[in-house]
Amino acid sequence: MSEVLVLGATGTTGSRVAAFLRARGVPVRTASRRPGAHVRFDWARRATYAPALNGVSAVYLLAPVGVPDPVPFVEPFLEEAVRQGVRRVVQLGSSAVPEGAAGLGAVHSLVRAAMPEWAVLRPSWFIQNFTGASLALRELDGEILSATGRSRVAFVDAGDIAAVAGHALTDARSHDTEHVLTGPEALSYDDVAALVTRRHGRPLRHRSVTVAELAAHFAARGLPADYATVLAALDDDLRGGSEGRVTDTVERVTGRSPRAFREVPL
Ligand SMILES: NC(=O)c1ccc[n+]([C@@H]2O[C@H](COP(=O)([O-])OP(=O)(O)OC[C@H]3O[C@@H](n4cnc5c(N)ncnc54)[C@H](OP(=O)(O)O)[C@@H]3O)[C@@H](O)[C@H]2O)c1
Repeated sequence: MSEVLVLGATGTTGSRVAAFLRARGVPVRTASRRPGAHVRFDWARRATYAPALNGVSAVYLLAPVGVPDPVPFVEPFLEEAVRQGVRRVVQLGSSAVPEGAAGLGAVHSLVRAAMPEWAVLRPSWFIQNFTGASLALRELDGEILSATGRSRVAFVDAGDIAAVAGHALTDARSHDTEHVLTGPEALSYDDVAALVTRRHGRPLRHRSVTVAELAAHFAARGLPADYATVLAALDDDLRGGSEGRVTDTVERVTGRSPRAFREVPL
């Protein structure tokens, strides 16, 4: 097999996809805007698309993050991929964004239409949101802020997302489908605060706030105001229970159970 191009290779999922493939002897080409990866790749610089794609057989596609409309970037990238004979693209989407919806949903439609072989991963919220900078973003004086109320989310391990991506990229038969990925159990933010407290050994409580209060908190933490509003509104979407479902996709694709919150190193 020729190389698999991994976009977002320095990020939460891309770094794990690259590690998963390497561990199985698959040749990997990592991409980043920064030095240290195999190729320089920047969605904002179209001249970086063709060299990154040259000679690869498959791509892990992380669309530009935080861009309201990624289509003007992803469309020419996929055209170049097809021109260069790339057969397969596995795109990271989101369980909250169905095919055809604005943003990642529009990318989903593009990938399905453009590629001879494809898969779109639609994970629920990541367990890794409770580590490092992602946790710090929601934390204030020993409390985790959310506007999710008592709703539950089947948080999923980024390592499990990467394992499904690895299979979708390399299985002899292309998956040609979307995969909705969850962890094995749905947890409330109260549950998560208790688990994180135990793990980090410092008390952390969940505080329910309104969407407007959460948006103001995110903005105070330095997020641009419009992005802070969009991010906070996602919490509100959870209140309907949409992320409480548990799917068997990780087990079906990888042959093993998804990892539970308490099993994942934070
Ligand atoms: N967190 C969640 O709960 C959740 C749930 C479902 C879906 N998602 C989706 O997951 C995606 C984020 O994935 P992730 O967590 O794996 O990524 P991440 O950790 O946020 O990292 C972002 C990656 O994108 C790269 N990047 C940023 N700007 C770039 C540019 N202009 N050109 C090329 N690369 C660029 C960065 O690489 P360099 O800086 O090295 O270039 C980095 O590797 C988002 O689309 C989000 O909607 C997240």
